Amino acid sequence: MTKKICLITGANRGIGLEIAAQIGQRGHRVLLGARDIDAGDDAAKTLRDRGIDARVVPLDVTDPDSVRAAAAAVEAGEGRLDVLVNNAGIFLDSIKRTEEVELDLFRRTIEVNLLGAFTVGTTFLPLLRKSEDGRLINMSSDLGSLAQASDPESRYNAVDGPAYRVSKAALNMLALAWAKELRGTNVAVSVCSPGWCRTGLDPHIDSSAAPNSAADGADTAVWLALDMDRSQHGRFYAKRREIAW
Ligand SMILES: NC(=O)c1ccc[n+]([C@@H]2O[C@H](COP(=O)([O-])OP(=O)(O)OC[C@H]3O[C@@H](n4cnc5c(N)ncnc54)[C@H](OP(=O)(O)O)[C@@H]3O)[C@@H](O)[C@H]2O)c1
Repeated sequence: MTKKICLITGANRGIGLEIAAQIGQRGHRVLLGARDIDAGDDAAKTLRDRGIDARVVPLDVTDPDSVRAAAAAVEAGEGRLDVLVNNAGIFLDSIKRTEEVELDLFRRTIEVNLLGAFTVGTTFLPLLRKSEDGRLINMSSDLGSLAQASDPESRYNAVDGPAYRVSKAALNMLALAWAKELRGTNVAVSVCSPGWCRTGLDPHIDSSAAPNSAADGADTAVWLALDMDRSQHGRFYAKRREIAW
């Protein structure tokens, strides 16, 4: 088996750390993107203690210099990238309606969830193109689904978070733009929703009642990274099944 080189952003905790753990347990090298280097180091060490080939890559998705430096380090160390998971994200407006969201909060949300993924994807694409089986995965949310948002009967209808929902809907469209441009190349693009998970994502809502662990939330991204049939390029998944945009 060829060891794949896999970068996950926001991998020092939560779903990102679990994606790294599950990919690493399959024998691949995981590069843990982390804006807090100490937290990233600690996370990488916990994985190495479990026998996983894990390294930290300092990476703040909102800082283009940091992203460029990370890409230069991966190019120097690995020469290519096989899997990129745009996982880093924030959710700060879950208890706010549209009229209550301050412009700055909206901007920060777009900055991390959308422009961060754009910067990382664009900067790492040349390295993904060097892979024999490149995979670019955006970690989105059911809350970014236009199909869900336009259905008054949707179980997500009660959820606010307009900035977050806009950022994830736009992240989905970014994935479709990449998918269109990369169709027929060696880089497959996909999007997933982890479902509601017990992580520290939302500082306002206690997630202990969420139905999924971080490991459950990681599962579909790992499947897309390592197992998905490449012909399924350009689709949106949850629980390893296609869902509506
Ligand atoms: N949990 C859920 O129920 C759920 C549901 C749907 C979608 N998602 C999505 O799943 C992804 C992971 O969420 P999670 O639940 O694992 O949340 P989490 O535990 O809060 O982890 C978020 C990660 O993103 C990182 N991050 C935030 N801003 C960053 C930046 N500017 N640069 C680099 N890293 C940054 C955080 O780093 P720090 O530790 O430094 O803050 C952390 O590692 C997100 O995209 C989220 O929207 C989660």
